[in-house]
Amino acid sequence: MRITNLVFVLATAAVSTLAISSSTGASDGVKPFRPLLKSKPKFTVYKEPVALDGNLLKGKMEDPAAVGIAAAEFISQTSGTPSSNMRVTSAYTDASSGVTHVYLVQTVAGKDVANSVANVNVAKGKVISSSHSFAPIASVHKAEQAAASMQGEDKQEAAKRALAALAKHLGHSLGAADLAQASVSPVDSIHGSNGQYLLIEGITGDLALDGSAVAEQAYVQDAQGRVVPAWRVNVEQTDHWWNAHVAADGTVLKLTDWYARSESYRVYPANVNSPDDGARKLVADPANTKASPKGWVTEGATYGNNVWAQSNPTGGGTWKTNHRPAGNHGVFDYALDLGQQPKTYIDAAITQLFYTANILHDLSFVYGFDEASGNFQDVNYSGQGLAGDAVIANAQDGSGTNNANFATPPDGQRPRMRMYVWTQTSPQRDGDLEQDIVAHEYSHGISTRLTGGPADSDCLGSGEPGGMGEGWGDVISTILRLNATHTHATDFILGKYAYGKSIRRYPYSTSLRTNPSTLKFLDRPDYREVHDIGEVWAEILYEVLWALVDKNGLAEDLFDRDLTKGNALMLQLLLDGMKLQPCNPSFIDARDAIMQAERNLTGGKNQCAMWAAFAKRGMGPSASGSDGYTHTEDYWVPDEC
Ligand SMILES: *[C@@H]1O[C@H](CO)[C@@H](O)[C@H](O)[C@H]1NC(C)=O
Ligand SMILES: *[C@@H]1O[C@H](CO)[C@@H](O)[C@H](O)[C@H]1NC(C)=O
Ligand SMILES: *[C@@H]1O[C@H](CO)[C@@H](O)[C@H](O)[C@H]1NC(C)=O
Ligand SMILES: [Zn+2]
Repeated sequence: MRITNLVFVLATAAVSTLAISSSTGASDGVKPFRPLLKSKPKFTVYKEPVALDGNLLKGKMEDPAAVGIAAAEFISQTSGTPSSNMRVTSAYTDASSGVTHVYLVQTVAGKDVANSVANVNVAKGKVISSSHSFAPIASVHKAEQAAASMQGEDKQEAAKRALAALAKHLGHSLGAADLAQASVSPVDSIHGSNGQYLLIEGITGDLALDGSAVAEQAYVQDAQGRVVPAWRVNVEQTDHWWNAHVAADGTVLKLTDWYARSESYRVYPANVNSPDDGARKLVADPANTKASPKGWVTEGATYGNNVWAQSNPTGGGTWKTNHRPAGNHGVFDYALDLGQQPKTYIDAAITQLFYTANILHDLSFVYGFDEASGNFQDVNYSGQGLAGDAVIANAQDGSGTNNANFATPPDGQRPRMRMYVWTQTSPQRDGDLEQDIVAHEYSHGISTRLTGGPADSDCLGSGEPGGMGEGWGDVISTILRLNATHTHATDFILGKYAYGKSIRRYPYSTSLRTNPSTLKFLDRPDYREVHDIGEVWAEILYEVLWALVDKNGLAEDLFDRDLTKGNALMLQLLLDGMKLQPCNPSFIDARDAIMQAERNLTGGKNQCAMWAAFAKRGMGPSASGSDGYTHTEDYWVPDEC
């Protein structure tokens, strides 16, 4: 096991191996989806509001029903769908703004077309904005003709078939015998339904909470704008409430979970590095759907599949039973007064740590620190890699001050991140609120698991390899901070908020005057400690980062993983390089792995730009040296450049 500190080395700590049990139901892993329309609907805001038809309004500008009729006519004109092929699903006048909001759905033979909706916003009898996703009228006509030829169908049997198809999609089996047992009866109206629907009862097994489901005939607009006949089937389960549209052939065309849990956090968002750089915001549902398909929170409080965040004032080894903010129906919104001591805002601090650590989980997942490569998760949804190792993240841990650390045992065992309070200022400051510190720590986990494979945590232990572990943390946390206002002339320092000044000797800078670090520094007696070595490595990588950004531009959102952009490419090359390089790499080995990753990813488009950056800091092609051997610099780029 490795313990990696932000600044100094502390004593070792024991690895906790408590197992987490997780229950899995049949519907786990099934995700809601909808057809994405090829012709994307447009929301139009009218600079000059458009008057509704006065004859339809009849002067009743305040009456939502009258506005609804006139709004349908308005949408009829903008969409080419006659108003007989739509219905108003709701219309109301907002008490504070006075705007009347009208919502409509397209219909075929009186049945709703899912995915074909419209909304019209009306102020004082005039449309201020509107949008529709209606299918082309030709598709509607086609569906109407097909409907006429389907009159004789046995509706009860068709509804049962649709239910069985949905059950299959959700991973439940509902056989012919089960279906025969179920009864179907027509019911006249139900909330959210258009006209007659069928109630299916006596469903066996755990598909439906009370053994019942409802079904009605409907249509769905598919991606190509076709209108496809379907059954809308609605079934409630303990943790889901599915609303599905199932085609005659059993294909589920659209699936919504009405029970969808939502999470929100009041935090310094990922693009705000610390309280120095902006304000907190309530961020809704930040989980990346690929990396965290079930969200970040398991059951209310700040723990979940990737991170368990809690306080630990005693600094002891307990964590499972420690205090965590419970949230309020998924809302983690806690007071934070920076004028007070950190302990007064422990819940805000835990929320921030939980948020930032989960951002690191999701972002690194997107760039390939996934289940197979040994990431930190309690449950590995893909079945690859070892489970049971979400990060233990202690906010304001009492075991230290003015530092932070991260302990990384091999895959399958829990890592532990301890964040400390910083005492240079009054009131004291909390490292949990500074993203570059949390990101540096989490990056130790990434580099340790990726170098030498997930099962070996001994590959970045000391000397140059250990120093690079520090350097990667600094440069990854800097990549996360980049925004469009920064240029290669921007310098970055770490720990500025918590410590009040840089925790490193030099700022990261592309100026040799501001930061003179080169490969040769490694031969100096005052560059033996891992954080000193790490500064040199991070500075070299900082040059490479700007070489790539200057050549390829900057992606606004790293989660898009747009590898044509310099910052995203750099992050990808760092993680790919970690996977390629040997255990206990030298600077030269790590550089070669990064260069190979680039050739593989782009065919070598950036090799010369990257060589120039490496060579600027003495790491041209014929540079050499490693732990215990003198380092020789090379300031030249290869001939082909
Ligand atoms: C970019 O980051 C700086 C801090 O380095 C911050 O002050 C600024 O507000 C950020 N700009 C944008 C557009 O996010
Ligand atoms: C992956 O996680 C699942 C639980 O989701 C577990 O059953 C399985 O054993 C794990 N795989 C490995 C190799 O540990
Ligand atoms: C990168 O490596 C993969 C797997 O070996 C290979 O299929 C691919 O062609 C390589 N790409 C380039 C550009 O070399
Ligand atoms: Zn560190």
